[in-house]
Parts: sequence; structure tokens; C-alpha cells
Amino acid sequence: MLLGLAVLAWGAAFAVNEATQAWFMRDIALRARLAAVGTQGALAGHLESGDGRKVAALLEDLARDERIMAVEVCTPTLASVSRTKSFPEQFSCEALRSRAPQGVLPAELDFSDEIDGGRVHVSIHRIDDDDVVRGALVLVHDLSFMARRELAMRHFTLAAFGFVALLASILTVFVRRAWWRSWTDELRRVLLLARWGGGDAKLRARNAFQPLLADVRGLVADLAAERGSTVAPWSAARLQHVLRENLHGDSVVIVANREPYVHERGPDGAIRVVHPASGLVTALEPVMRACSGTWIAHGSGSADRETVDRHDRVRVPPGEESYALRRVWLTKEEERGYYYGFSNEGLWPLCHNAHTRPEFRAADWLQYERVNRRFAEAVCEEVQGPDPIVLVQDYHFALAPRMIHEHLPRATILTFWHIPWPSAERFGICPWEREVLDGLLGSNIVGFHTQQHCNNFVEAVDRFLESRIDRERQAIVQGGRECLVRSYPISIDWPNRWAAAAPPAAECRATVAAELGLSADALIGVGVDRLDYTKGIEERFLAVERTLERFPHLRGRFTFVQLAAPSRTLIETYRQLNERVEGLAARINGRFAAGTYRPIVLLRAHHEPPAIFRYLRAADVCYVSSLHDGMNLVAKEFVAAREDERGVLVLSRFTGAARELTEALVVNPYDLEEASAALATALAMPPAQQAERMRAMRRLVAEFNVFRWAGRMLVDAGRVRQQGRLSDRLTMGLRPVEGARS
Ligand code: G6P
Repeated sequence: MLLGLAVLAWGAAFAVNEATQAWFMRDIALRARLAAVGTQGALAGHLESGDGRKVAALLEDLARDERIMAVEVCTPTLASVSRTKSFPEQFSCEALRSRAPQGVLPAELDFSDEIDGGRVHVSIHRIDDDDVVRGALVLVHDLSFMARRELAMRHFTLAAFGFVALLASILTVFVRRAWWRSWTDELRRVLLLARWGGGDAKLRARNAFQPLLADVRGLVADLAAERGSTVAPWSAARLQHVLRENLHGDSVVIVANREPYVHERGPDGAIRVVHPASGLVTALEPVMRACSGTWIAHGSGSADRETVDRHDRVRVPPGEESYALRRVWLTKEEERGYYYGFSNEGLWPLCHNAHTRPEFRAADWLQYERVNRRFAEAVCEEVQGPDPIVLVQDYHFALAPRMIHEHLPRATILTFWHIPWPSAERFGICPWEREVLDGLLGSNIVGFHTQQHCNNFVEAVDRFLESRIDRERQAIVQGGRECLVRSYPISIDWPNRWAAAAPPAAECRATVAAELGLSADALIGVGVDRLDYTKGIEERFLAVERTLERFPHLRGRFTFVQLAAPSRTLIETYRQLNERVEGLAARINGRFAAGTYRPIVLLRAHHEPPAIFRYLRAADVCYVSSLHDGMNLVAKEFVAAREDERGVLVLSRFTGAARELTEALVVNPYDLEEASAALATALAMPPAQQAERMRAMRRLVAEFNVFRWAGRMLVDAGRVRQQGRLSDRLTMGLRPVEGARS
């Protein structure tokens, strides 16, 4: 700013100086002409009469003017007649001859020049009398006053510049201070609203954070880009590299209840491959493709038995066959007790704050124990050496880690709990709380999505088991064996294979609109879930209803499409939920339907990933309203689907994903005012803002992808393994040599 002001001051001084100089010169020329005209008559007379004395007296009179420095009168042939004292010799009559071409004097001549005393203005005026040239008058004006005025002007400009600069600096400081204060006041207000406000106020407050978050995200992205130039982003290839480097290429064995590919016999008798609706499968399948090895799962498909070999194995993915799927068969009784009973009527509601009462039955527990043992045995059959890497997945297998450890004490066992872990107090509801904890502590590492779940787990161990808790290392030590507790937020593969295969957004929109009979300008909302009470599907529909009540302009235009995969349908609470959700959709549709328009389209069926991605890509808004969710990968899949950087994610704050996807409109799904305001905001959001939010979320999911999730776990497993091997060597070295004492 100072530099700008200086340039401005210099320019102004230059322009003013030029203008005043020109003005002075014109003024002097005018004065000279007036003086010449005033004396013309008298001088002509004196020259004609040859009265040199009178000419001299007239010159003295003229020289009395303070600006006229010297005067001379010349004959027509430019010889001096008379001159005042100290007339500069270079302007004498004789010297001026060079300026009179062929000795003819011009009527008037002006010029300025430098002499010893400074700058002067010289004007020559011909003295005529009735067309007879009598001589010439030479006037020399002093111009030194101009230099003095120029200097004074320069001083004045400098002083003015100094003053303006000082004023501007003071003003800047004040404005900046005031701006900073208003910014911090605003931030404080927003924080208070976000914490204590209700409904719309809270949403507005959270949205006010977005520019700040966008800046922070931008900074993070820049740093990541900088880092990226040296460290490759996480990918299948980098994961393979980690496996080779940190675990010496040992193949991994995964134990998970749900299989990644289910073979089902269709009504036409043909066998088709189904991708089950499961966040666990979404995340782990790309990892297994990268790592190869074996996935041990419950063979639940109607044609599963027909597709395995005599060891109950089948190579998958179909056509690619990069890893083995080992199927374990369960009897109806086992499935009822272990899967429906203890896992999904006991542990599932226990771990989710979704107000469904957990049910624990001793018969279910026996089946749970039995099936865990069967899977542990399957692991022993599948491993290739005494120290395999075993990844145990989820709440279906809390007992398996201890059982595997008993059979394979040198195995590295990593257990990941895909759902929330409740507070210690709540966990105490489980009648087999010690057994569950002890089973999990058979692992070398137990992983959760969030640090909060890790803390809850450590608190539960502290409360219910005898053990030493090393809080600094986040480890639990039992009988000299250590189990690390770590948070590894799960994610999806990136670049995402389903997103890559999906048609462009405009095509998705057109086909979805045609399928559902929607108008071309329809606003489409989408939800993709298993029909589960933790997903908040009822709250979602109520939010849609409230949106239409509050924002009537959306009636007839906004349609919410819910893809709902039937799930765990043998359980009564799921059956009831199914009916409630259907009833609610019908009631809301009854209220707002008009012509072919229905506000809610409930598609209760299993949808394969290509269809899901088509819907995600067609939507204006995706609403994930889980009442409690470990992570929720649908939110991340929506982000992956939106290469076009359009669409808004409205996300429940009770999901693990809300901790990462902060550019979503984060809401409390129970607060229908807030949720409906968010839906309306999302539907009216300008494309530029949608793009900014989507870009930031895409950057985040791209970097924190599932290969990073698996990679971090495997790096930790590699370290644990290394430490184990070193301490084995140490104990072997210290073992006393037999008979040495005798
Ligand atoms: C959650 C669990 C997964 C499970 C999925 C689907 O995401 O964490 O382990 O696979 O739900 O449930 P289902 O019972 O159909 O496997």
C-alpha cells in the first residue's frame, strides 16, 4: 500500500509540476508581450528621433518590474542602441543575429535558456512604426522563481504523502483489528449455536463453518499433495508391497461371517452370483483381491454347495479368481443360535444406541461358542504354516481369536470390530461379558473405527477382567501377552471399481427418472441401506415429510428413493421394522401424492452394486440418517460415485463417517427441523458450492481409502510379528542348557 501511495504521490507531483511550468511560461510570455506593446509607441518615436537618452530611461522603467532581469533595444540591423546593466551577453543584439534568418527580424520570438544565475526567458519584439521597422526590444525575464516553487511543491508533496501513509497505516490497523474481532465473535457465536442451539440454528451454525473447513481442507490437501510427491498414495499395489516388505509375503486368512460372493439359484434354475449388502464385504473384498489368501465365511447361498470343490473352496472373484473362498456350512440350529440369536439379537442391539432391547439366551450362546470353534478349526485347516496372519472380522467372532491362538500360538491375529463398542456400563448387560472380552484378547491387535470405541473397550476390560492396562501404549497385558487396541477408520477402494463402471451422471439420471416415472426437472433424494433399525429409515421418511410440510414449493418435485435390502428377516424386530417402514411410506405418499407424483419410492429388494451406483449418481441429495453406525460406507460410496462433483450428502452425526466427511451437511436425524432444513438447503445448493464440498470429500476418501486402512493394520501386524520373533530368539538364548548344573 505504501509503495502504491508513493507511486501515486510521485505521479501527482510530476503532473502538477509540468502543468504549472507550462502555465508560468505562458504567463511570462504574456507579460513580455504586454510590456512590449505598452512601450512600442514611445520606443518607435525615440528611435526615429534618435534620442538614446530617452530610450535608456524607458528601459530603466521597464527593468523596474521585479521579474524583468534585463532589457536591450536594437537597431533593425541588430546593433545595440541601449541596454540595462548586466544584460547577459549571449542574448545581446549581435548574438541574436543568428536567430534572424537573412537579417530579417521576426515580429516576435520566445525561448528559454540557462545562464549563470539560473533559468531565463528571452522574448524579442520587433518595433514597427507604420510598417517601418525601427528596431527590436529584447526582454530577459528571470525564471529562477520557478525552480524555487518546484522545490516547494516537491516538499509539500512529500509531506502530504507521509501524512496520507501514516493515516492509511493507522486506519488499516484499526480495520484489521475490528475485522479480527468480528471474525472471532462470529466463530464464538457459531460454536455456541452448534453446541447449544436447536434445529435450523444448529444447521446454519455448522454450515457457517464450511468456508473455514474448506480452507483447512485446502491446506491439508496442499500438504498431502506435497507429501504425495514423495510418498505414493495408498493403492492395491502399495498394499501388496507392504505385505511383501513387512510380512515377507505371507498370505492372509480372513474370517468373516458374510461371504463376498453368494451363489444363488434363481427361479429359472440358473445359478447367479450375488454381492451381499454388507459394509464389511464392501471394504474387505478389494483388500483380499490385493493380498490374495483365503476368506473363510458361512456358505449361505442356495447354490453355494454346488459351486465349491471337495475342500469346500471356490476361487473368486468369478472370472478373476485371485483368492480362495472357503465355505463353512452351518445347520439351521447353529445359524439360528449363533447368527440370528447371539450375534444379531444380542450383540448387535447391545452395541448400537438404537433403542432395541438386546436379548441374550443361553442356548444361543452355546451355538455362538460352537460356531466360533468351527471357524477357528477351519482357520487351522487353511493356514500354510505355524505363524499365519489371521484377520478376524466383526462381532460374529468374539471368541475365535482366543481359540485360534490356542491352536496356533505363533499366529498374528488381528481382529476388527466393524460396529460401535458400547460404554463399559452398557456392555455389562451381556451375561457373557468376560468370555467375550477374553476371547477378543486372544488377538495381537483389536481394531475399531474410532478412538472412542477403543476407549470404551479398554474401560470394559478394566472393569470386567484381571489385566494390566498400559494406557501409554494403548495395550492390554494378560499373563505376559500383549494385545494392542488401535483405531483404524475403514473406507472403500479408490479408484472405486463400481464408480468407474457406472454410466455418466446425465445418463444415470435419465434412466432412473424413466424407471420411476419422474419428470425431467424432478429433485431426487436417495437412501441405500439394509432394512435395519439402526439406519434411521423411519426418521429419514419423517424428515422428507417435514421438508414437504415446511417447503411447499418442493411438493410435486422432490422424490426420495429408498433402496432397502431386506435383512435378517427371521428376527421379529426386523419384520416389524419392515412393516412400519412400509406403512410410513404409504401414509406420507397418501398425504402428498398428486397424479403420478409420490414423495417416497420404497424399493424393497436386494440391489446389485451397478444399480446402486446408478442411483447414487442420479441423485441431487443422499441422506444417510443412521441412528448409530460404526462408519457407514454408503456415505463414502456416494462420494465415490460423484465424479461430476454434484450432489449433496446429508449425514447423521452418529456415524463414524461424520468425523471424516465434514463437508457433508451433518445433522441429528432425530431432529426433524434440522434434518428437513438440511434437505431443503441441499436441494437449493448452488452447483459451485456442491462442487467445492464434493471435491474436498473426494480428496479425503481418495487418500484415506481401504488400502490405507488395511495397510496400516498390516504394518502394525508386521511390527508385532517382528517383536514376537525377537523375543522368541531371546528366550531361546536364555534357556538353561540341560544338565549344565549337574
Ligand atoms: C454390518 C456388519 C457386517 C455385516 C453387515 C450386513 O455392516 O458389521 O458384519 O456383514 O452388517 O449384515 P449381514 O447380517 O447381512 O451380514
